[in-house]
Amino acid sequence: MNQNSLNQIPQPLLAWYYQNARTLPWRDNPMPYYVWISEIMLQQTRVEAVKPYFQRFIESLPDIQSLATVDDEKLMKLWEGLGYYNRARNLKKAAQIVMEQYNGELPADYEELCSLPGIGPYTAGAVASIAFHISVPAVDGNVLRVISRVLGSKQNISDLKVKREMEQQLLAVLPDDVSSFNQALMELGAVICIPNGAPKCAECPLNHICIAHKKGIELEIPVKLKKKASKVESLTVFIVKYQDKIAIQKRTQKGVLNDMWQLPNCSEILSTKQVEQQIKEWGIVPLSIRSKTKAKHIFTHIEWHMTAYFIETYQVDNNTQFEWVSVEELENEYALPTAFKKLLP
Ligand code: ADE
Repeated sequence: MNQNSLNQIPQPLLAWYYQNARTLPWRDNPMPYYVWISEIMLQQTRVEAVKPYFQRFIESLPDIQSLATVDDEKLMKLWEGLGYYNRARNLKKAAQIVMEQYNGELPADYEELCSLPGIGPYTAGAVASIAFHISVPAVDGNVLRVISRVLGSKQNISDLKVKREMEQQLLAVLPDDVSSFNQALMELGAVICIPNGAPKCAECPLNHICIAHKKGIELEIPVKLKKKASKVESLTVFIVKYQDKIAIQKRTQKGVLNDMWQLPNCSEILSTKQVEQQIKEWGIVPLSIRSKTKAKHIFTHIEWHMTAYFIETYQVDNNTQFEWVSVEELENEYALPTAFKKLLP
């Protein structure tokens, strides 16, 4: 990679950022707790979608102490819809460690941040630089794209080695205002040097030094070689209504969506006969079995193809494996992953 062109980034990028930075709730008051929560949320979701989640989260859990002691169900409810629920569980685990070992304050140290559950090099870099002004890079997907394009680099950004190398190169050119610089790189990636569709090069403060732009190969970069293909799993899902309640149950402790609530389901697409057989095994006497609805849900390595049956029942014999909940209870008290919500009317 050409180190020289990285030297030329900070000045025009910062000038652009000071003029164009979006007002974001966690930017108004970049205290470490807010930066940490927002960065974890932003790993999986866009800024606009994160805003209401962030506001609700910090209203409900205003500090590390409240996060360390939050009831698990409440935590899942606050995270409902964001996905990757282990990230929320890790937030709580890390908060407990911070209470026990760091007097309730996130450590102002990159390595110590890295040692906390759920905090990797990116998040540690973001918290250290944005909240504590420590001179470390924070390289996420946005930054990988921006820098690869500026350098005209066709190295595979899925390769961890490429990422580590970029962190080293950025480290060498970090300006004093590292907090703004790291945020500016992410911001540029989010609003100008965008991932899907044509980047807005005419508005880009780095267009004069960008090799991809010079060569007209913006859309060929970054190179991101696909890792393993997703595995497709077929599921039959049961929306079972009894009086004004529906059946939910807990998932197992292991695997995808571990320990979350789910609609009853089994693997493979069942025939109507097999559906009848299955609900009989659950001690459910159907009043009606209604037509199916289908939905897909894509996780990181698995794709669910779901077929749902609506079943009304007037009798549930000693059924202990389900929890029967009203629509209001489901909305207010139970966190149901989006994969299942897609199937509900
Ligand atoms: N994406 C992830 N973190 C961000 C941040 N701090 N600013 C802008 N976009 C981001």
